[in-house]
Amino acid sequence: MSESLATVSYLGATILFILCLGGLSNPETSRRGNLYGIVGMTIAVLATVLGPRVGNAGYAWIIGAMVIGGSIGVYAARTVQMTQMPELVALMHSMVGLAAMLVGFANYVDPSASANMSGAEKAIHEVEIYIGIFIGAVTFSGSVIAFGKLSGKISGNPLLLPARHWINLAGLLVVIYFGREFLHAHTINDGMTALVVMTVIALLFGIHMVMAIGGADMPVVVSMLNSYSGWAAAATGFMLSNDLLIVTGALVGSSGAILSYIMCAAMNRHFISVIAGGFGTTGGAPAAAGSGTEPAGEVVAISAAETAELLREAKNVIIVPGYGMAVAQAQHTVYEITRLLREKGVNVRFGIHPVAGRMPGHMNVLLAEAKVPYDIVLEMDELNDDFPQTDVAMIIGANDIVNPGAQDDPNSPIAGMPVLEVWKAKTSIVMKRSMASGYAGVDNPLFYKDNNRMLFGDAKKMLDETLVALKS
Ligand code: TAP
Repeated sequence: MSESLATVSYLGATILFILCLGGLSNPETSRRGNLYGIVGMTIAVLATVLGPRVGNAGYAWIIGAMVIGGSIGVYAARTVQMTQMPELVALMHSMVGLAAMLVGFANYVDPSASANMSGAEKAIHEVEIYIGIFIGAVTFSGSVIAFGKLSGKISGNPLLLPARHWINLAGLLVVIYFGREFLHAHTINDGMTALVVMTVIALLFGIHMVMAIGGADMPVVVSMLNSYSGWAAAATGFMLSNDLLIVTGALVGSSGAILSYIMCAAMNRHFISVIAGGFGTTGGAPAAAGSGTEPAGEVVAISAAETAELLREAKNVIIVPGYGMAVAQAQHTVYEITRLLREKGVNVRFGIHPVAGRMPGHMNVLLAEAKVPYDIVLEMDELNDDFPQTDVAMIIGANDIVNPGAQDDPNSPIAGMPVLEVWKAKTSIVMKRSMASGYAGVDNPLFYKDNNRMLFGDAKKMLDETLVALKS
């Protein structure tokens, strides 16, 4: 493929990636957006592999790597559970970081990469390598820790080292110092020492940064690492002089940054204070699924039949799904119940909290999969004022996002986070298996309110029983 055809293909792929992002911003256009992304990526890969920069000798390597990488990808996509998706995404971000690191080192030791460079051009190339490896290393180690936290392999408690901000600052100064040494190195061996020292510090910095972030702040970390992975890809693009990788990386980097901003706004947090860590310090570890804690008051349990009775008598119902709905895979039964109630003239709507579940848009994806109409799936802000006129608020496997302590208790680890005010409904029904806390590890005063009822059990099983009772 000629240079100009490859350039035109890159341009086409770039446009498709932009259309993809536009499509993904709305559930109704997301399938089309996904398709644009797939076509764009296919064009990008073909234009790169068949492009002028790959010689015949490279094909065996590329095809071998694609077969191995593709097989792992297909296997992971087929076997991963929906609830494991967030940690899989974190793992994939780590791969982007690792790739940026490896490309940086390969680029530095490859004499042909900078053979015709001298003066300012060579210095810029080396700065690209240094910064690219730095971003890649932070992304890699930070994402591995995020994977550990999201999968429960590492405690969600923030690790707060004494003088942690000074440690970070000292690390940054050492990185700058070795950056200078790197640029002034006369041989590759000299430069390599500086590069390795910086990489080790960057790796430790990534670990420290994510370890210091408490459970409740993980949504911001997920989107932040998403953004970093984009910048790491853009840095790789600079090192390889690949325009498409630069543009794609910048798209991912900036959209991830916007998402981080949205997540911060949703949690009423400042980005800097999230990164500085420590939020959720008093909250304890995220609750392991099913782990029970001592109740802090009296709760009133009800049966599925009683739940069906309350729903049958209701005129307005708001359903609030959370992580437990994803665990139980209860979305299809939720849809059946919704359909039945709507046929009986009940006004059923869904209230979606921006950080419900474990990844941005988690609940929207599940509800779309179950074919719940988009027009009854509303954002928290769109229906939070409607709870006083609501007969039944049905909370399915949600906990932190309906915790009144966020408003009432200034010492709560989630204090200030906007929540769905389900307790203002005539009756709220919480479906969960036990009295265990949610991801932020805090008790929920909602459970003990007079107008609250607890429907204990697996959400799918309980909703199946409710559906049967509703039909009878
Ligand atoms: P959580 O607060 O984590 O509560 C989920 C509840 O679901 C748990 O209390 C659990 O109680 C229940 N549950 C689990 N499996 C269940 C099953 N099979 N059937 C019925 N119930 C089940 O979830 P949430 O309210 O959606 O809030 C999200 C939390 O995750 C927030 O703290 C948020 O900051 C954090 N987070 C979000 C993200 C993103 S991007 N959305 C990323 C990382 C972290 P039982 O064990 O008693 O059943």
